[in-house]
Amino acid sequence: SSLSYFFQPLFPYHSIAHRGASAYAPENTMASFQKAVALGFDFIELDIRMSKDQELIVIHDADVKRTTNGEGFVRDLTVDELKQLDAGSWFHPNYSSEKIPLLSEVLDTFGGKINLLIEMKFPENETNMTEKLAHTLYEYFEQGLDPSTVKVQSFHIFEIKKFHQLCPEVSAGILLSKPLDMFHLASYRSFASFLAVHYRLLSKSLVNQALFFDYEIYTWTIQDQPLFTVMQKLGVHGIISNQEKKKTSKFTVD
Ligand code: G3P
Ligand code: CA
Repeated sequence: SSLSYFFQPLFPYHSIAHRGASAYAPENTMASFQKAVALGFDFIELDIRMSKDQELIVIHDADVKRTTNGEGFVRDLTVDELKQLDAGSWFHPNYSSEKIPLLSEVLDTFGGKINLLIEMKFPENETNMTEKLAHTLYEYFEQGLDPSTVKVQSFHIFEIKKFHQLCPEVSAGILLSKPLDMFHLASYRSFASFLAVHYRLLSKSLVNQALFFDYEIYTWTIQDQPLFTVMQKLGVHGIISNQEKKKTSKFTVD
């Protein structure tokens, strides 16, 4: 249609559903991931933390308060306690049956169906979170999941380095919200294959520097059509968004 022609990307890039298609369904739930598949996103981005009983849990905040009907820190609650919470009603009553997913549930349901971009939240605060993630992924790879369908990112550079050492088959990347000098860009390339850059930090010169060292470049969180276009013109490889290329003239990015 003429509309789809208008929204045609200027060149190919990965569309990445931020916390799932979180404009349409509660973030980081099976519903938001299902919606991302239905909308044809290339990837789902999801955040992981650890429960009190050391399981990998899919949730953004340290505290369950914002996205569930419970309270307390994820790391102080067991899987049984976390699973009792309603993770959807805060968004809309239709989603009252949504639970906080385990990473294993996401891998069971979506592994191989859509690419996964897994963000480790504060892995340096947890005991062996990075090791646990690598171990979990290997279990799925042994069952046939293709490692090229998974990427792992974090703001915590040391943990990304560690993850790469444990699991070199999986592309690992650094989340950037502050500028990085050429020396660090060069040295991090030995373990990171992509940079996920906050859109305000992105410039033609950063793109050129990153391309010089052969990084892929993703950007977050892009919520409006003009900014999609700007980012595509800058030449990013992936755009992380709550919604697919929305038509709006207003800048409503976070
Ligand atoms: O994928 C990038 C983005 O998710 C990082 O910020 O706070 O949404 O996890 P946040
Ligand atoms: Ca994230």
